[in-house]
Amino acid sequence: MVQFAGTMTTTRPTSHYALGSTDAEHERLIRQAALLAPFTERFFRGAGIGTGQRVLDIGSGVGDVAMLAAKLVGPSGEVVGVERDARSIARARARVAVAELHNVTFTQSDVSQIPSSKPFDAVVGRFILMFLPDPLAVLRSLSQLLRPGGVVAFHELSWAPFLLLAAPLPLWSAATSVIHETFRRSGANTEMGFALYQIFQQAGLPAPTMTLEMPLGNDPEFIRWVPDVLGSLLPLVQRFNLDLKPLGDLDTLPERIQAEVSAANSVVTWMALVGAWSRKPESRRRT
Ligand SMILES: C[S@@+](CC[C@H](N)C(=O)[O-])C[C@H]1O[C@@H](n2cnc3c(N)ncnc32)[C@H](O)[C@@H]1O
Repeated sequence: MVQFAGTMTTTRPTSHYALGSTDAEHERLIRQAALLAPFTERFFRGAGIGTGQRVLDIGSGVGDVAMLAAKLVGPSGEVVGVERDARSIARARARVAVAELHNVTFTQSDVSQIPSSKPFDAVVGRFILMFLPDPLAVLRSLSQLLRPGGVVAFHELSWAPFLLLAAPLPLWSAATSVIHETFRRSGANTEMGFALYQIFQQAGLPAPTMTLEMPLGNDPEFIRWVPDVLGSLLPLVQRFNLDLKPLGDLDTLPERIQAEVSAANSVVTWMALVGAWSRKPESRRRT
């Protein structure tokens, strides 16, 4: 059981979260997590997350990053996930119970109002800072929950290389442009990955060590992330009145995209995964 005392509060409210929390979105997150697990695991290991640590995962969704961290810290460590959506937390708790992970708990809270507790050895997150209206304020307050020398490690996105590489395939490119534009209009920062370099420093952390990786693939399971994300974003696409005509019948979009990619006899990319990590400075000793 985690003991909380007081609450870390940042000053600004949070924005609308574009992807929602339907069952279909939860399944999409789980599929996405399976694809990304090797990338995030390698990144976390490189950042120094390991046995016995107490880790805070923010924006946990249905629990995949928290469960990955639990594997790295082992039974002697502990992971606390923070997520504000009640349905996602319920799903995350059920999954952790099925996996018999006794060292993972979830707290329902906005990431800007995380209850303070015994210091963490690491604060991590994947695809969360991009959705926050004031990621800097959140990073500053998270850093207060961390012990000196503790790790801050985030996996976020960069869309720029992805959009460039998508351009040769007209349907793939049109679909990804609608997704990008919807995120942009919802207030999400689609270039949060590169922004991390400055935000870490503005939050009082050393300049982060950074990585960029782009998964590649061309089979239906890989390619489906585009129609899947589009499905979750559809209410917002409609609210923003974005033109879906270039995509044709949405029911047949996955097959038509697959045909386009197969005809090109090439691979397409996932969005660029940008990792940034650094350590909270040790407190200065008085001489
Ligand atoms: C794209 S999902 C990522 C989930 C998980 N980190 C992963 O990689 O599988 C982002 C999650 O952050 C949550 N979220 C968004 N804004 C939040 C906020 N201000 N406070 C807490 N959770 C938030 C959403 O509800 C959603 O579950």
